[in-house]
Amino acid sequence: MTIYTDKEASPTALEGARIAILGYGSQGRAHARNLRDCGFDLVVGARPGSSAERKARADGFRVVAAAEASAEADLVSLTASEASHRAVYEKDIAPFVRRGATLLVAHGFSIHYHQFDPRHDIDVVLVAPKGPGERVRREFEAGRGVLCLFAVRQDATGSARARALAYARGISGAGGRAIETSFAEETETRLFASYAVPQGTAPDSISAAIAILTDAGYQPEVACFQCFDETKAILDLMHGAALGELVSDTRLVDDGARERMARLLGEIQDGRLAGFGPADRARPGDDMVSGEADGRGAATGTPPGQPIAWPNPQPEIWAA
Ligand SMILES: NC(=O)c1ccc[n+]([C@@H]2O[C@H](COP(=O)([O-])OP(=O)(O)OC[C@H]3O[C@@H](n4cnc5c(N)ncnc54)[C@H](OP(=O)(O)O)[C@@H]3O)[C@@H](O)[C@H]2O)c1
Repeated sequence: MTIYTDKEASPTALEGARIAILGYGSQGRAHARNLRDCGFDLVVGARPGSSAERKARADGFRVVAAAEASAEADLVSLTASEASHRAVYEKDIAPFVRRGATLLVAHGFSIHYHQFDPRHDIDVVLVAPKGPGERVRREFEAGRGVLCLFAVRQDATGSARARALAYARGISGAGGRAIETSFAEETETRLFASYAVPQGTAPDSISAAIAILTDAGYQPEVACFQCFDETKAILDLMHGAALGELVSDTRLVDDGARERMARLLGEIQDGRLAGFGPADRARPGDDMVSGEADGRGAATGTPPGQPIAWPNPQPEIWAA
């Protein structure tokens, strides 16, 4: 695997480009401020009267309606929440974005699951920083930068990949690193990582451990403190260590739990977990650079014009 650094991720592919940030929340705010500090020309598109509009103005950005920002941009960064992607794309991007411009998302979900079909005359790329916006900004200011995953879905201009790398460089600064992925891989691994561990096994195993300790007569407060504190300490350790260096009790995650996790991955891959029914059958790597999105428009399960609901599954990893 290649880890791209400052040397490969040259900002020149976006030299002189105007970047529109649509969505000024955790990610949008960090992206906009970091890109501005790298010398890019920024405009923020926000709903009139929204908190996003107020925050962006207070940070010194020029703020216009999202449609206007799309019309004047060379790159449109859609950093609004997933639930709004289709509506924002259809109303504020598709009718206005220039031919040969770039549409960028910070997570592949809405495009991978075909919530909208981007126009074929624009580049479609992904730059997903690993970390919430506050960390993206903090690491940039400290000169370190976060790791970004990047991918190309549609390369209408021949420059999509260079533009994605330039954007990754812009939000991470000189210290950043980037790894190439695909929309399928970024989306499916992020969903799985989130549902299998922090939203799947971790809360249940922490509650079970606390219950076992309190049932055995230990004070609930002490039980809670110990379980949470030990979990946090191990997670902090995992950030700096290779997984193999950590010793775990292999009796707890047994073959049954692994099978249930594998089933969960299957539901993510075929779109069931996202609630969309069969959607994108692309496998990791399929949509890298030129692979494409032919065959898009498959049934998504969500009627056109309806907001996309984030999946709310109850994966029963531990269930017998
Ligand atoms: N958070 C992370 O750790 C992380 C990491 C990597 C990638 N991402 C991705 O980054 C993107 C943004 O996530 P986030 O955490 O920054 O979300 P967020 O903090 O919830 O911000 C969402 C922004 O979207 C705006 N918005 C919502 N509906 C809108 C609409 N219909 N039209 C225009 N703007 C609208 C909101 O503005 P108002 O409501 O004020 O109008 C707000 O500024 C998502 O694709 C997410 O998956 C997040």
